Amino acid sequence: MPRKCRKCSQPAVINMRQHKLALCADHFSEWIVAQTERFIKKYRMFTREDRILVAVSGGKDSLALWDVLLQLGYEADGLYLGLGIDGGFGYSDESQAMCEAFAAQHPETTLHILDIPGAYGESIPQMATRTRRGRGKPCSVCGLVKRHEMNRLAHDLGYNVLATGHNLDDEVAVLFQNTLNWQVGYLARQYPVLPEGDGFARKVKPFCRFYERETATYAIVRDIEYIYDECPFSEGATTIYYKELLNKLEADKPGAKLHFYLNFLRARDKEGLFADWKEEKVELHPCENCGQPTTAPGLCTFCRMLPEEVRPRVRTAQPIAFKMIARG
Ligand code: AMP
Ligand code: FES
Ligand code: ZN
Ligand code: ZN
Repeated sequence: MPRKCRKCSQPAVINMRQHKLALCADHFSEWIVAQTERFIKKYRMFTREDRILVAVSGGKDSLALWDVLLQLGYEADGLYLGLGIDGGFGYSDESQAMCEAFAAQHPETTLHILDIPGAYGESIPQMATRTRRGRGKPCSVCGLVKRHEMNRLAHDLGYNVLATGHNLDDEVAVLFQNTLNWQVGYLARQYPVLPEGDGFARKVKPFCRFYERETATYAIVRDIEYIYDECPFSEGATTIYYKELLNKLEADKPGAKLHFYLNFLRARDKEGLFADWKEEKVELHPCENCGQPTTAPGLCTFCRMLPEEVRPRVRTAQPIAFKMIARG
């Protein structure tokens, strides 16, 4: 027997067992939008005065997030970083096409695109091979490049908030991993908002309380085209292993992931978990090449990773490599 929407009795598109809530397409998208607004306020992520840069990967989460923020009337533009990953099916090109297709339907926004090989002469896999970081997998170089370039561009383009599409499944996998290893420093910093400071934009994850199947359903219901394939290098990643384990738990105990995450946040906010934890004060100073605050002496990790002759491009990458697509 197909379930019916709790609000209007139309056939439901999703049944959220953890909330005991089945909803039709219209009521589900309304629910996602309203819940996102609630989370934004609850965790004091941003207001309508802020300029928000949404990091979009072409996947369901980040495009759905951009869509919701626009529906809510926030000033939100997109940033896509072209990583030059092919994987036999043009992964990066396809991802970019999805971001462009979304932007084309929203003339009120701007999509900023930075092509990493265009800017720095090498794709992410090429950088990984040259530097031999990450045991044959480019994921660690990729993380380093994405972090640096998102921070740099948010700052240079005048956005004070950087939003990513991390969902509950992502957050819980990281929380689980950090708990297994008792990574106290990481645990203390894991939160839906990281305050701005030292020239970095505030970082927010407005979808951190939505299951992946909810963001996917939202993207489908809203006719948002997104890339279904995962990055070809994600296969065998530790977080994917934890996600599979946690999916087994969730299947037996619906809502287990949400409880794990919410109780962690509650323990922090209400019971003072980590209240006495003090981050070791490390002195930051500007990178000699790019100016971004860094703990390393001289150059930041990103600039150090680049070949010497390429380093000056970090300062000029913007006007050359930036393709501002302002539609309409
Ligand atoms: P991931 O690290 O691939 O799980 O992605 C986490 C979040 O980072 C996504 O939801 C996006 O907000 C952002 N992101 C990932 N890849 C890109 C990219 N190539 N360009 C811009 N943002 C990205
Ligand atoms: Fe960066 Fe896969 S997205 S290595
Ligand atoms: Zn309904
Ligand atoms: Zn630097």
